[in-house]
Amino acid sequence: MMQGLIEQFGAVLGKQYVLTDDADKVPYLTDWRKRYTGKALAVLLPKTTDEVANIVKLCAAHHVAIVPQGGHTGFCGGATPDNSGNQVILNLKRMNQIRAIDSANQTITLEAGCILQSVQEKAAAQDFLFPLSLGAEGSCMIGGNLATNAGGTNVLRYGNTRDLCLGLEVVTAQGEIWNGIKGLRKDNTGYDLRDLFIGSEGTLGIITAAVMKLYPLPVSQWTTLVATDNIASTIALLTLFQKRATSLLTGFEMMTQESLALNEKHFPHMANPLKGNPPFTVLIELSDHESEEHVRKLLETILEEAFSANLISDAVIASNLSQANTFWHMREHITLAQAEEGANLKHDITIPLSSLESFIQDTDSLMRQKYPGVRIINFGHLGDGNLHYNIAPPLGLDPKAFNLSHEKAIHELVYAQVERCQGSISAEHGVGQLKLADLRAHKGAVAHDLMKALKRALDPQNILNPHKVVSI
Ligand code: FAD
Ligand code: MLT
Ligand code: ZN
Repeated sequence: MMQGLIEQFGAVLGKQYVLTDDADKVPYLTDWRKRYTGKALAVLLPKTTDEVANIVKLCAAHHVAIVPQGGHTGFCGGATPDNSGNQVILNLKRMNQIRAIDSANQTITLEAGCILQSVQEKAAAQDFLFPLSLGAEGSCMIGGNLATNAGGTNVLRYGNTRDLCLGLEVVTAQGEIWNGIKGLRKDNTGYDLRDLFIGSEGTLGIITAAVMKLYPLPVSQWTTLVATDNIASTIALLTLFQKRATSLLTGFEMMTQESLALNEKHFPHMANPLKGNPPFTVLIELSDHESEEHVRKLLETILEEAFSANLISDAVIASNLSQANTFWHMREHITLAQAEEGANLKHDITIPLSSLESFIQDTDSLMRQKYPGVRIINFGHLGDGNLHYNIAPPLGLDPKAFNLSHEKAIHELVYAQVERCQGSISAEHGVGQLKLADLRAHKGAVAHDLMKALKRALDPQNILNPHKVVSI
């Protein structure tokens, strides 16, 4: 029966785009963090929306589950199949066409398999900014960004992926094509299907194309690294920048001493240019459409005010684009340094800024009491309250063994504090299979049951990415 299905896939896609040899499938089976490895009946590589629709119809007729996949850079195992060997991976990388750039409407219409960085570049070539930006931008794809509602470093100014999306084209679980590919900024015609599919991690439909917003490309950008002594000063500094720079503030990223120590251990050329290893290093970026001097002056004025108010103890302003890029690389390399260090525990959380100090103080202190020597790799997009409160084992301990013994209790410790502060246990990475079991307790029974009802209504056969986000 399965051989017959494989042949039918070949008839839709062309045989060379149906991968069934073990060696060919390997690159699609393990997630970026190397936390999950699954098996797959086949890896399917469609080129058009019609091909996706025909594949879904075949899968629906044969009750075969589909795992949609983009760049496979997600952190929650959402794009990794289970171990049954009965699921197919539908990787969208061949659907990589920019369909149109509409300058008057300031929109780009593009297919799901476009790599994020190439979208930024295509937009810039036409003098537009596509503001979504994250460390994986060289390999993640716009379909995956939409399916996870990715955040990244520009959220405080431009919002999450959801805020950048105006329209979608989606293949449903029945293999129908929903054409919602409009570039409208207002459209109150009933339930918002677009927003339902965004962030649904491939469980409600397969995103094949989208209309995304573009913005005027800033002409001047200044980046600075500053040192702060504690989280209270860091938050006060954010408030100061928000007041003085308003919409010119496009980046506010926080890195702790321990995060940067890990960075330097694995990437010695990424040394912090600030003196004396400060407790907190903050990367701040201002962008504008006025002259370089205007923004530079504003930045210097705000920094002077911050020095006078004792909010910061040191500052380095990037003197050119290359140095600014080095500052950003330092920030982005923390994730890579953690991967070099071995298995680690991630907590991608949001906390209201008003509760952030209390969250960090209490969680750090409980963590250090219970797990002496543990390294708290705490960094993130502080400008929008998003912390990556990641945990590495005490030096000298085997990370896998440490995680096996303590993972559950450490998650519980952090999540209890998140609940106390009315935060979220997934700010930007999603749920996937990693947080499947935590969702009901976190969202509450009513919200969780509504999510399951939606899943049953849209995918009654449970063939789209089953046992990710919610199980029905
Ligand atoms: P995948 O990993 O392939 O898939 C992710 C989920 O989306 C899966 O559930 C999959 O089934 C589903 N999916 C994929 N494509 C489709 C589609 N076309 N239709 C329906 N469902 C689909 N994330 C952030 O939010 N902010 C960050 O700052 C950030 N930094 C990162 C830095 C690094 C170094 C790395 C490795 C990852 C980072 N991530 C970050 C996580 C990751 O890059 C994002 O979640 C990204 O949006 C995933 O895109 P992808 O194409 O790799 O999707
Ligand atoms: C980042 O912001 O660099 C990633 O989302 C974080 C992570 O590694 O947890
Ligand atoms: Zn992040």
